[in-house]
Amino acid sequence: MKFWDREKEKERLKRYLKSEPNSILFVYGPKSSGKSTLLFQVVKELSKRKWFVQKYDMYWYDLRGIMISSYNDVVQLFFESDDKEGQKIIKEAQALFGIPNIASFSVKRTIYDEIKNKELDPFKYMEAVLRKNRKKHVIVFDELQKIKDVYMNGENQRPVVKELFNFFVRLTKVLHLSHVIVMSSDTFFIEEVYIDSTLKNTSRYYLVDYFDDDTAYNILVNEGIEERAAKEIVDKAGGVPWILEEVIESEEPLQVLEELRKESKAKILGYLDEKRIKGEDIEITFKVFEKVLENKALEAQEELLELRRLFEREILFYDPINRVVKFQTRLDELTAKELLKRV
Ligand SMILES: Nc1ncnc2c1ncn2[C@@H]1O[C@H](COP(=O)(O)OP(=O)(O)OP(=O)(O)O)[C@@H](O)[C@H]1O
Ligand SMILES: [Mg+2]
Repeated sequence: MKFWDREKEKERLKRYLKSEPNSILFVYGPKSSGKSTLLFQVVKELSKRKWFVQKYDMYWYDLRGIMISSYNDVVQLFFESDDKEGQKIIKEAQALFGIPNIASFSVKRTIYDEIKNKELDPFKYMEAVLRKNRKKHVIVFDELQKIKDVYMNGENQRPVVKELFNFFVRLTKVLHLSHVIVMSSDTFFIEEVYIDSTLKNTSRYYLVDYFDDDTAYNILVNEGIEERAAKEIVDKAGGVPWILEEVIESEEPLQVLEELRKESKAKILGYLDEKRIKGEDIEITFKVFEKVLENKALEAQEELLELRRLFEREILFYDPINRVVKFQTRLDELTAKELLKRV
């Protein structure tokens, strides 16, 4: 698979993985900014290094496309029974990922049942397993926000995420046993985590944004796009990886750009129409657009509510650490500017 280089970002992640385990790293950024691809590439490169494979076992959980709505689903995610089937799955994963040190919690059926029946605490059990292992670990969670509404079902209804974070804090800050990387494009989830007092001084946050304009331009030209077209594409669409992919794959890159502009318009106009049909105020949308374009803070309650909705519709992006609101893509920004001219 092709990988357009991201030296700076790779360096940052490798620095984290080379250091002594001490903190949870939250990797966040706009939708499809290239977070998963980047981390995967970093791990693949490190897997070729003897020291990495000898020092660490990798635990990689990708929650994309997986339905997790109950405690039992979480147990199933973490644990595999140690029969042949379980071992086969690990071998397949190793081959698929090209990562030799991929591991999983493979347990005896009786233990599996005890965990399911809540006679055995899964986090305590995993900690015991990891402490016994002579290697350290890298634990990756992709799209962790997907389990934010799952509860332990105990008398006191604790969210699984909370338990998981306690577990991560122990593995990193307290025991220095594992690196933990959590990826998410749900930045309201990241914000909740960021302001959670129990995680203060235990976590780091790293923004993986789209490619900057110069890098995007160089990628396009290197991939054979004519210079003038490359400039126009970057000016109008910015360095969104999947947009770069689409224009590169096409025979008519500028036509693709035009189609993407139309799609952006359809997305935003469709949102406004929906509001009109429901009899909702669309002035607030324009006001938020204006403020975002002028870099002004959104403070009023109605503005913040609208921000959330525009975020959910993937029109705006909110960076809770740097406290910045932007359009999801430059195409959306252009669309908003055009709409504001008309009103
Ligand atoms: N460095 C890169 N080189 C080549 N292609 C890339 C690169 N980064 C991202 N892509 C392409 O862009 C698409 C989106 O990337 P990816 O899924 O990694 O983003 P993400 O930030 O994890 O997205 P999400 O927010 O949906 O989890 C992928 O299909 C991938 O092929
Ligand atoms: Mg991803």
